[in-house]
Amino acid sequence: MHSSAEQELQRLGVQRGVPMVEYNTFGFNAQAEYFVTANDEDHLVALLDLATDQNLPVFLLGGGSNIVLTRDIPGITVRLGNRDIRYTPAPDGQMQVTADAGVNWHDLVMNTLEHGHQGLENLSLIPGTVGAAPVQNIGAYGVELVDRFCSLRAWHRPSRRFLTLGREDCEFTYRNSRFKREQGDWVVMSLTLVVGGDTPLVLEYPSLAEHLAAGTSDNATARSVSQAVISVRSTRLPDPAVIGNAGSFFHNPIVSGSEHARISAVNSGLVSYPLPDGRFKLAAGWLIDSLGFKGVRRGAIGVHERQALVLVNHGGGTGVELLALVEEIRLAVREAYGVELTVEPLIV
Ligand code: EPU
Repeated sequence: MHSSAEQELQRLGVQRGVPMVEYNTFGFNAQAEYFVTANDEDHLVALLDLATDQNLPVFLLGGGSNIVLTRDIPGITVRLGNRDIRYTPAPDGQMQVTADAGVNWHDLVMNTLEHGHQGLENLSLIPGTVGAAPVQNIGAYGVELVDRFCSLRAWHRPSRRFLTLGREDCEFTYRNSRFKREQGDWVVMSLTLVVGGDTPLVLEYPSLAEHLAAGTSDNATARSVSQAVISVRSTRLPDPAVIGNAGSFFHNPIVSGSEHARISAVNSGLVSYPLPDGRFKLAAGWLIDSLGFKGVRRGAIGVHERQALVLVNHGGGTGVELLALVEEIRLAVREAYGVELTVEPLIV
């Protein structure tokens, strides 16, 4: 690299050879060739322009809770450092909350609840950042990001412009969006959601309903739902601070009605949810569990002992070792049920 480019990298606060172990929730060891926190829009655009000029790939890092690092990351790894949250009144007593991409997702949920606005409580304790949330249309306990979505502001790399996108523009589907499909083209800067007013409480998801019924609260509130979600998640999902993981590792596969009938015939215990269009969403955790994978270990890598959908790094494992277990699981599910499991996190 030319020395003037090196100077520009330095001027923009870019560091060289930064260990990523603290920046991914699996705790895998890898190095970013270059690493920088972009503090505002001008800073981000200058970094992206420099990357283009120097032919350096750009890797956008959120909370690192949905990635598998299998190697060092070439080029510039960029994390967003903008962290503001602001409220604007919306029609019908609702509120628009706009959060910057660098805000921790769970902090945003808690902030809206502290301000007395319901709507995000089911999405409590999801790891990661606000900027990453729309990329995979995060969801839990009967609510998806798209259900509370208003708009977002993003930098579009191909056209070198900041754009505001509405719901239709984002093409959200189950754990997917335009930003996931057009990976590399977009940098989400901030997200605007609608909360408060008559935003309904969503209490029907089985494990949440069970927990609420077991408690004292007939009159659920946003806060009590949030507490219930936190408690259900804490008992079923391992805390990444204690044991490395990236939440659900596979999507719940969606199959046709006839496929569903065929698989139910193979194993009548199949857990599935009918979709409005006649198809079925299968519980991938159940499929994997039914083949005896819960709690298995392959060296330092394993399947979580309470939730077969979650792969874990007990410490000292590598992304490459994890991918070997992923293939073992996919093969077993394919052979037993004829179902293809797709991976949720991004493999780097
Ligand atoms: N199940 C098993 N064995 C297992 C795991 C699950 O039999 O090892 C069964 C459960 O008993 C239940 C069904 O499978 O009947 C579904 O399990 P659960 O309610 O725990 O939800 P999930 O389908 O495993 C999905 C999301 C989670 C989200 C929960 C709650 C996906 C891929 N995962 O998990 O999202 O928190 O529902 O809404 O859609 C994530 O994306 O990282 C994530 C954690």
